[in-house]
Amino acid sequence: MNGNWQMLTDLACDIDKGIGSTDADVVVFPSFVYLPALIKQFAGHPLMIGGQNHSQYQSGAYTGEVSPAMLQDLNCRYVLLGHSERRQLFFESDQVIAEKFVLAQQHGLYPVLCIGETLQQRQNGETESIVIAQLEAVVQAAGIEAFKQSVIAYEPVWAIGTGQTATADQAQAAHKSIRQYLAAQHSEVASELRIIYGGSVKAANASAIFAMPDIDGGLIGGASLKAEEFLAIIAAAG
Ligand code: PGA
Repeated sequence: MNGNWQMLTDLACDIDKGIGSTDADVVVFPSFVYLPALIKQFAGHPLMIGGQNHSQYQSGAYTGEVSPAMLQDLNCRYVLLGHSERRQLFFESDQVIAEKFVLAQQHGLYPVLCIGETLQQRQNGETESIVIAQLEAVVQAAGIEAFKQSVIAYEPVWAIGTGQTATADQAQAAHKSIRQYLAAQHSEVASELRIIYGGSVKAANASAIFAMPDIDGGLIGGASLKAEEFLAIIAAAG
């Protein structure tokens, strides 16, 4: 919920102009109110636009909600689901997020499923079990094959917006266990799936993080609000 129309269109234009010839897929996720205009403005451009969330319901009397069909209507291709702020501040459970994942795909959307442990959970040695439980809910609801049309974003909650990045080794360890868990069910899905890392990624640490074997990109928060910083991260991801 950052920015305003002027700031966000300027930012999106600067990013779009600066993307250059990277082979990385670049998606920005503005707030709902700006989606229609930005999708229209960047149609056919390298910069892709996604939604930050959608409802777990198809349609109906759910005041304040936005349905996946509405995002589909706008030709929106990607949607973030299960961001830790949705889980923590808006009490979205693993089950609700799994329902959203299923609905997203039914509406031709490509979910970017966010998972990750809190600091307390990490200190209790629960990182792997928490992350697997978050994934398991979606595997149960959507089936393993559904992950072919998705991205997983591993985002340790303690690293989001705190300046405290997971070390490249900590992130790699989590990504590896996510991939192994999926590989036990479907090796091809696991090897082809993009698992991206989020949590205080910036230009200065992006290359080291993206160099890890199981890290396929980044989900960038604060650093995406400065075009120059974000473009340097894109260059590191390419
Ligand atoms: P951050 O945010 O890059 O500012 O830590 C990540 C996120 O919000 O997903």
